[in-house]
Amino acid sequence: MSESWSAETLLAQALGEVESEFGGVVPPIHVSATYIRSPDNSYPAGVVYGRDDNPTVRVPERVLARIENGEEALLFASGMAAATAVFESLPIGAHIIAPRIMYWGLHKWLSDRAAIGRFSVDFADLHIPGALEKVLRPQQTAIVWIETPSNPMWRVTDIKLLADTVHAAGAVLAVDSTVATPILTRPLDLGADIVMHSATKYLNGHSDVVAGALIFKHTGELYHRVQSYRHDVGPIVGHFEAWLLLRGLRTLHLRVSKSCENALSIARRMANHQRISEVLYPGLPEHPEYFLARKQMSGYFGGMLSIRIEGGADAAISVAGKVKLWKRATSLGSVESLIEHRASIEGPTTLVPEDLLRLSVGIEEVTDLIADLEQALKLP
Ligand SMILES: Cc1ncc(COP(=O)(O)O)c(C=O)c1O
Repeated sequence: MSESWSAETLLAQALGEVESEFGGVVPPIHVSATYIRSPDNSYPAGVVYGRDDNPTVRVPERVLARIENGEEALLFASGMAAATAVFESLPIGAHIIAPRIMYWGLHKWLSDRAAIGRFSVDFADLHIPGALEKVLRPQQTAIVWIETPSNPMWRVTDIKLLADTVHAAGAVLAVDSTVATPILTRPLDLGADIVMHSATKYLNGHSDVVAGALIFKHTGELYHRVQSYRHDVGPIVGHFEAWLLLRGLRTLHLRVSKSCENALSIARRMANHQRISEVLYPGLPEHPEYFLARKQMSGYFGGMLSIRIEGGADAAISVAGKVKLWKRATSLGSVESLIEHRASIEGPTTLVPEDLLRLSVGIEEVTDLIADLEQALKLP
């Protein structure tokens, strides 16, 4: 499709991919686990075996590479499979830097792997200017991993600012952009080398797929190592999930815009609620990175926010227990709104305040969402 068409057009038309045999406007699902060799011993379509090769998977990979302005994209069985493929492709003993508060599953995995000597990790508040420099080891650090906005405090990290520092130290900058999505932020355009998404979230957007994605600015050495890792180990996405993901991507811009509009209205409304001590949302002027978010997030601030309930964990759990429309479930980025007492899922080692409820705002009518929250916040 034309270089000049906008992301919305490219997404809605899945880059113009169609089914070529009958002219179907939707690309088919290829289910084959293996492909036939020609008599001359070649594979004419370049597709060999299903552990890594599947034409259905290639379609959303092409869409993601194009939308994120990367050279290549690789899909994985989950967001965790995608993220860990990057770290598992680093040499033994590599030095890694990651956020102190981030998606807890990855934080735990990094800590566990560091504890058995696979690599060393420094966790730092990378959204605070100057924090990176304190832990960065020039010409030694292999990768700096950031998440912006970050789970579940929604701090925003300046990708452009960090990219210069990271590159000057000879390291790679990777961004978990799950919450921003390519609709709000394009990390590769801001200097990052790798973008990661839990495609389980906004990219698919319907709570019916678990998948992950990596998009590489350039297909250099690290890309090839990650690609070999996926080929050799096999943490691949299924063909049906890839097809559903492609379907979800077609409406990404509409879903993200609506979620962001709803989230902003909810954040503003909750900011003055007497039972809420704090609303964490980059779209509120009192947020510490509000101006950065305005610059880095193309006019919207994301569909995720957290609220802190006066009275601690019990009060927060009781509010979550009273909602009728919001679904009490973990995960984020889907069309339906979810509410979660975050400390309950992260367990006793969590760094998240125990009075915090995480809200993943969907695309419902916002007045319904607000009314439901307000009735749940009413004291008996
Ligand atoms: C920001 C972020 N990154 C990564 C992940 C991991 O993705 P997955 O659950 O698809 O493995 C999650 C999951 O909640 C997430 O929220």
